[in-house]
Amino acid sequence: MLRHHHKVLLVGDGAVGSSFAFSLLQTTQEVDELVIVDLKKDKATGESLDLQDITPLTSPVNIHAGDYSDATDADVVVITAGVPRKPGETRLDLVNKNAKILSTIVTPIVESGFSGIFVVSSNPVDILTTLTQKLSGFPKHRVIGTGTSLDTARLDVLLSEKLDLPVNEIDAFILGEHGDTSFGAFDEATVNGKPLKEVANLTDQDYAALEKAVKARGSEIINGKGATFYGVAKYLAYIVRAIIENRNVMLPVSAPLTGQYGIKDLYLGLPAIINRTGIERVVDYDFSEAELKKLTLSATKMKEVLDNVEL
Ligand code: 2OP
Repeated sequence: MLRHHHKVLLVGDGAVGSSFAFSLLQTTQEVDELVIVDLKKDKATGESLDLQDITPLTSPVNIHAGDYSDATDADVVVITAGVPRKPGETRLDLVNKNAKILSTIVTPIVESGFSGIFVVSSNPVDILTTLTQKLSGFPKHRVIGTGTSLDTARLDVLLSEKLDLPVNEIDAFILGEHGDTSFGAFDEATVNGKPLKEVANLTDQDYAALEKAVKARGSEIINGKGATFYGVAKYLAYIVRAIIENRNVMLPVSAPLTGQYGIKDLYLGLPAIINRTGIERVVDYDFSEAELKKLTLSATKMKEVLDNVEL
């Protein structure tokens, strides 16, 4: 049987976008066409040629520069466009600039007839994911943000160092805002399938220090190398693979709240199952009272920002 032609359109060929494209080609063999859209058309063309050079070692993919009209028959549109954080800036400092950029992208993509899934990584990602859904009018499950997938990775790395265990044995989520109000869901965290709180002798101070270190990690990277990109790019590729290959993976992403935990009309970092339908479902979590308070705080902060966004 002939397989469906899988097409991905990338908007934004900056450090995150190009790293995503590089990673995607190595993460799945099932993308047939990758279109790169950037205001700098020459950059997108050069990127396409450079990426074509790896395809003899990956799988044959038609890679080319394009424009928003190419979204018409795409399965996934990945949005990384926007200004990145500079040293000393928070993600929320970017909101008005990046919301304006986002609106110039989403409208022509929807007008192209695009009927696939949006995946957003531009910051502040929970806000921009919420706006992508609003601007597009798409069903909520067809819009996903990278959310706290990256923060979760950072926590797993830090915990593996602290406990001196392989990182793949750690399963501990950071949830809520991808930003300063995020929190560790330590009560539900596991190590090799066993509750973290039984396996490790960590104090409340240890947990607070871990959360703080996770939050500081993005700035630490930006202070060192000027930008962060491999982490988020790899999670973008992982999400796109889950969609294209219908893999039903669970990952904390910017997922839509529609009344759960008393929160609605907002995307926030929560574990969700991702497959070819987009967000197949947001996983119900048995949060402790303290965790629920933190989630509510993230939601309140995000709503405040959303109410003041200038498009
Ligand atoms: C990061 O956390 C800056 O949001 C980006 O790496």
